[in-house]
Amino acid sequence: MKGVILAGGLGTRLQPLTLVTNKHLLPVYDRPMIYYPVTTLLNAGIDDVLVVTGGEHAGDFLKLLKNGKQLGVRHLEYAYQEGNGGIADALKLAEDFADGGRVCVILGDNLIERHIRDAAEAFRKQPSGARLLLKEVPDPQRFGVPRFDGGDIAEIIEKPADPPSRFAVTGIYFFDNDVFEICKSLRPSGRGELEITDVNNHYLRRGDLTWSELDGWWTDAGTFESLHRAAGFVAQGGANHAPGA
Ligand code: G1P
Repeated sequence: MKGVILAGGLGTRLQPLTLVTNKHLLPVYDRPMIYYPVTTLLNAGIDDVLVVTGGEHAGDFLKLLKNGKQLGVRHLEYAYQEGNGGIADALKLAEDFADGGRVCVILGDNLIERHIRDAAEAFRKQPSGARLLLKEVPDPQRFGVPRFDGGDIAEIIEKPADPPSRFAVTGIYFFDNDVFEICKSLRPSGRGELEITDVNNHYLRRGDLTWSELDGWWTDAGTFESLHRAAGFVAQGGANHAPGA
C-alpha cells in the first residue's frame, strides 16, 4: 500500500504565519509539521509516498524533504494542486501514483502519539472499500462527525453545529482504488470544496466503510489552539517515533 500526504491549502486559519510559508512546514516543537505524517506512514510500513501540495511555497517541500532518504522514505514523489478545491480535489492528483492499488491518505496537519499498524493490517485484510480512524474529542463540531446507529456508522456530518456523537473522523483514511472515481463524481460543498466527508459517505452508502478507534492522543494543527496543543503533546514526550528522535 502506498501513502499520500495532503499538504496543500492556504492555511488561512494560521495567518499571518502562513503568509510566508506553507502550514505544513511550520514548526511543531522541534521539527516541521510534515515530518509527523511522514513518520506515521513509515511506522505503518508505508515507504512509497506522494506529497500533494500547492501555493507559492510548494518548492520549499523539495528543499526540506529532498528525496526523502534522510527520513527513511524509499520513494518520494510530489504533486502540485492548483487552486484550493479541497481535500478530495487534492486526492485526485494521486491517481497515477496509486497505479491501481490502495492508498493510506493522511492530512499533513494530523499528528498521532502511537501508530496505525493495526488499522493498516485490518484494511489489508478487507476485500474492498474504505477504513476510517475515529477518535473521541472534546470539540467534535470542528470535524467530520459520525452518527451511529447501534455499533454502525449511519452517516458522517462535516462540522455539525449539533454533533451526533463525541467522535471525530481523523484525517487518516484507507481507501481502495475506487476512491479516484468517487472523487471525480463529487460536487463542491457549500464552502466550494470537494469534501472528504462526501467520499466517506459514498463508501458508507455502498456498505463498504469500516472504522477503527485510534489509540493515544491525536490532534490536528491547523489553528493556533491546535498547533499549540500539538507542540505541547510532542514536548511532553509523545510522538517519540518522529524521525530523528
Ligand atoms: C478536515 C476534514 C474533516 C476531518 C479533519 C481532520 O477538516 O474535512 O472531516 O475531521 O480534516 O483533521 P479541515 O481541517 O480541513 O477543516
